[in-house]
Amino acid sequence: MNFQIKYKDAMGRIGILKTPHGNVKTPAFMPVIHPGKQTINVKKYGAEIVITNAYIIYKNLDLKNKALKIGVHGLIDFNGPVVTDSGSFQLSEYGDIDVSNREIIEFQEKIGADIGTSLDIPTPPFVSRRRAEKELDTTIKRAKEALEVRDNIMLNSVVQGSTYSDLRAKCATILGEMDFQVFPMGAVVPLLESYKFSDLLDVTMASVTHLPDSRPRHLMGAGHPMIFAFAVAIGCDFFDSASYILYAENDRLMTPTGTYKLENLSEMPCSCKICNDYTPNDLKIMEKDERVQLIAQHNLHISFAEIRKIKQAIIQGSLLELMEQRCRVHPQLLDAVRNLKKYTENLERYDPVFKKSAFFYSGPESLNRPEIFRHLKRLDRLPAQKTLFLIPSVEKPYLKNLVDKSGIFQRSQKRTRKGEVEKSGKFYQKIHNKNVDNSDHSDLIQLAVVDVPFGIIPLEIDEIYPLAQNEAPIIIDEDSKKFVKEVLENYTKKFHRVIVSEDILKTFNLNFGFEYGDLNALNINIGDRQKIEYIADYQFGHGVGKALFKGDINIIKSKKTSRIRHIYHCEKLIATIRARDGAIVLAMEGAIRLHKYLKYPKNRVVVSKEAEPFAREGKSIFAKFVINCDMSIRANEEVLIVNENDDLLAFGKSILNGNEIMDFLVGQAVKTRKGGK
Ligand code: GUN
Ligand code: ZN
Repeated sequence: MNFQIKYKDAMGRIGILKTPHGNVKTPAFMPVIHPGKQTINVKKYGAEIVITNAYIIYKNLDLKNKALKIGVHGLIDFNGPVVTDSGSFQLSEYGDIDVSNREIIEFQEKIGADIGTSLDIPTPPFVSRRRAEKELDTTIKRAKEALEVRDNIMLNSVVQGSTYSDLRAKCATILGEMDFQVFPMGAVVPLLESYKFSDLLDVTMASVTHLPDSRPRHLMGAGHPMIFAFAVAIGCDFFDSASYILYAENDRLMTPTGTYKLENLSEMPCSCKICNDYTPNDLKIMEKDERVQLIAQHNLHISFAEIRKIKQAIIQGSLLELMEQRCRVHPQLLDAVRNLKKYTENLERYDPVFKKSAFFYSGPESLNRPEIFRHLKRLDRLPAQKTLFLIPSVEKPYLKNLVDKSGIFQRSQKRTRKGEVEKSGKFYQKIHNKNVDNSDHSDLIQLAVVDVPFGIIPLEIDEIYPLAQNEAPIIIDEDSKKFVKEVLENYTKKFHRVIVSEDILKTFNLNFGFEYGDLNALNINIGDRQKIEYIADYQFGHGVGKALFKGDINIIKSKKTSRIRHIYHCEKLIATIRARDGAIVLAMEGAIRLHKYLKYPKNRVVVSKEAEPFAREGKSIFAKFVINCDMSIRANEEVLIVNENDDLLAFGKSILNGNEIMDFLVGQAVKTRKGGK
């Protein structure tokens, strides 16, 4: 167990993998080093880890003897972690190789590779099911044999199964239960070469969702920076490829926005040293050998720059934005992002609930994002009301801008293209249940803004992430209109009576039975208590608001912004509303109340006896001490830390989701805010 997660976004993670030759930060790109011909020192360009081919070394007597004598690190002159591949690629290219699984594993161990690979069979995409099943059996047998043969070496075990999702899933499940340190996903090169990124997504998702979260995954042979962001967002940690040199040999320059042929370039494509020091003409007229070296250096520079950009995006919570930008560079990559809709539920499970950066809408694909899916699900946690009053969007924060200086709710405004507020006309209503009287039910009304991309935003919760922290164009595209219409059709079913402004009816083409109603008498005020109760329900579950803020409470607001800051019961702080994202952050009294209200194991992380004293002292909780937890916990949520008897020990913020907390044995699971009960 030598992998831990430091930061997460979507299904991507920044992790640390420990190897005998040092730690590697993931996501990482490993350049392929040719053991006989390598001339570029890849470390200089940012390589922390490399991959080379044990079979090539094994087959060449000189290389073999040298590797046995001085080790693979000396042979390729790289003193960091070295991964070796087994010759499977040669097997798939030439149909046969003259080394056994057992021999090649023993050899990789003898030459001191940090991570070795068994002799899997790279079954190509779209072959017959019979072939895929038969070859998969062999791959799995060899994986098991590899474990018997290995002494100490860390091992890759490659997930195969061609383009059959169930076979990939089966393979991932079986291998995942065994003691391998890294899980590559194999035989995807043909999909990459033919730009079948949508199939690549299906293959990768089928594998990743069945592999243990606690070990890194490697997308084998993927080396074009164009797909890095996408692959990381769906859970890949490692990439490897010889493309940087192979492309260079064909005068092709890689960039995250596509590949350029030197002959078509009049300007260099990036700001790396090579692109600064040379013009395309300089390169065109020089000797081929020298040119290949320089283009390969550019390809390395730009690949590592993209990895850095991705790591930064994970830390600030903008990986999905980066992915959406990158996927616009090729229609088939865009197809893959559209296909990602099938997996929104998987993404949601891993996507942190609160992020540092705002949600940016980049186009209709953004409508499939996990944040929106989660919001629509969490709306069900709010108190049920009888009447729904739908208001056109205004500038954010909605509620603040809908209430005029005298505190009167201005329901007839809408946002214009210039961001001005404009009077909007009539209101229409629909009554589902004629038996309910038609009066205002002022105390039973839910006021909600209709907006893109989150659809419905009840005004009580309009400042919690990401409902306030998002940006979308004011000009609404057709997909968004259709999406919001569907959301409204579904959501309004729950109410006896729905009132909607004419503006919303028109914008979202809602033609399902609204009648003009004279509703001018409506006057509504949303109290602070109602607000915090709704936020609590939305964040923790139905009914939590009333329990968390029971009895006499004292709400303290910021003098500067007049937003709610602290909520007390007498002198005891229950919770704070975090300014950045409007989230409830528990204090001790809040944790006690939440613990009392929510039934075990809801919102709990259960720690072992030996960790109990540390938890009580307020020390952070390491995953290895967790013996149980609520599997619906997401990263960055407020969680309760308890012992086996469900005694509350402490509380804090989850670093990982439920699956990950249970699966990991190293690294932090919860950043404790306070212990000591
Ligand atoms: N390199 C690229 N694809 C593969 C694969 O499927 N298996 C192995 N071992 N190496 C690869
Ligand atoms: Zn460059």
